[in-house]
Amino acid sequence: MTETATLDAAAWQASWDRQQQSYMPDREQRFATMLDIVDATIGAPAPAILDLAGGTGSISLRALRRFPQAITTLVDVDPVLLTIARASLDARTTIVSTDLRTDPWTTTLPRRDYDAVLTATALHWIDGDRLATLYREIHSVLRPGGVFINADHMVDPGITTLSQRIADWERHRREASYVSDPTLSWEGWWEHLAEDSVLGPLIEQRRQLFDGWHAVEFTPSHDWHLDALRAAGFSEAGLVWRGLNDAAFAAVR
Ligand SMILES: C[S@@+](CC[C@H](N)C(=O)[O-])C[C@H]1O[C@@H](n2cnc3c(N)ncnc32)[C@H](O)[C@@H]1O
Repeated sequence: MTETATLDAAAWQASWDRQQQSYMPDREQRFATMLDIVDATIGAPAPAILDLAGGTGSISLRALRRFPQAITTLVDVDPVLLTIARASLDARTTIVSTDLRTDPWTTTLPRRDYDAVLTATALHWIDGDRLATLYREIHSVLRPGGVFINADHMVDPGITTLSQRIADWERHRREASYVSDPTLSWEGWWEHLAEDSVLGPLIEQRRQLFDGWHAVEFTPSHDWHLDALRAAGFSEAGLVWRGLNDAAFAAVR
């Protein structure tokens, strides 16, 4: 008798959340802030949300819990994380596999009039020139009055020395937590996942896709982002949340 491998999507969601939370203990707070802004600006029970570089679907899952009549589009390129997302989300979410660096990704979307584009801890993997263009593309898929919110690593340019001390302190705190649970680290989590009978075989495909790519991260201060957003055509752009060296901005089309 052959055994069919099954994916425990709920367990992988919980494990992903624990790992991400070890980097960002205030992760849920930033998601809640994003959804508060959607609530405040959209004012409708059924927003159309684009979950950009959405990975396992953390933002879509939370948005759909808060707005059960919402629809979301999740865009990402990682074949492993997208497999977890597909097993976790229902028909309210359309999942699109596309590379935001190189693909004409806006043409693959089911619509171009989103109420909100939400993204977290992802766009630092894209270089500055490409990111400035991406902001224009995001502007083009929002309806007038729609909002783009990005939470990511964004230091405050007024406290560069202090920001470095904070980054060192955060790293020490994280490393201490890995002693009791190695899967809380990015590398440890992927090693653990490699043992999964459904996800493990997809790792090689992922490796080929990401080979050498994540070596350099683009993490300018929040000023860079706000300038790039205005240049991309957004009528308003400003910070809506800050936690140590991370921040979230909102920009209105
Ligand atoms: C740290 S995860 C965050 C995922 C999710 N927003 C969350 O907070 O749980 C970063 C995500 O960005 C995606 N990503 C990075 N670069 C990408 C690109 N060029 N195209 C599509 N997705 C990308 C990765 O595949 C990954 O799913």
